Amino acid sequence: MKNWIVGNWKMNGSQDAVTDYVPALLNGLAEFTGWEKSARVVLCPPYPYLGMLARALIGYPIAVGAQNVSAQPQGALTGEVSPHMLADLGVTVCIIGHSERRRQFAESDDFIGEKLRALLEIGLTPILCVGETLAERDAAGHMDVVRRQVLRATEDVSAEALARAIIAYEPVWAIGTGVNATPEQANEMHAFIRNLLDERFGAETAGRVPILYGGSVNPANAGALMSQPEINGTLVGGASLKSETFLPIIEHSLT
Ligand code: PGA
Repeated sequence: MKNWIVGNWKMNGSQDAVTDYVPALLNGLAEFTGWEKSARVVLCPPYPYLGMLARALIGYPIAVGAQNVSAQPQGALTGEVSPHMLADLGVTVCIIGHSERRRQFAESDDFIGEKLRALLEIGLTPILCVGETLAERDAAGHMDVVRRQVLRATEDVSAEALARAIIAYEPVWAIGTGVNATPEQANEMHAFIRNLLDERFGAETAGRVPILYGGSVNPANAGALMSQPEINGTLVGGASLKSETFLPIIEHSLT
């Protein structure tokens, strides 16, 4: 399985930032000969920049992802964007269930499950984010929370479809705080998630789903995180905004 390095720009960036970022990233990647054999790089800018980024990356092995999507195909849903609209722009990946959306926009597990199915139906790759708060970890409830998030969102999904999805474990207490989960904590949760998938979908499917770690990933901790057997890549927020910090994270993910 290739390692996935996904940059989540959140609500940051501009047309100028995209214009500067693309050549800097491509020049940096050109130094890592054969990088695309072991890594898949995805950039997830805000909606307005998806089209221009996808056009700038035509012909390069770098995918473009969205940070959210509607589960509905069209209609009276002011402010929403459908899976088909993303595909129409050349987007192939989409983050769903990020903790910022769960918390600030009250997204439920069932609602996130609808998005998961809508994306899989039209052949887009969902990145389903799961993860516990600090209070939940302190109360030793982190496994229960992640079990619920994974199992509820993947209800009514076939094994064949789920094999095309990605899961990102992002402990809420590690996002944007500078405090990453230790490689061992992350690996333990990844193994737990893989086991959940095994129980519901079988070992073959479970073995095909990349499980990424997210939360304060940076050039200094990426190598140790990526050395863990159950970590198949990273979802990178702040450190993906500049190619100077995103490139070394990619380099640490090459095998
Ligand atoms: P961070 O964000 O790397 O800035 O902690 C990660 C994320 O929220 O995906």
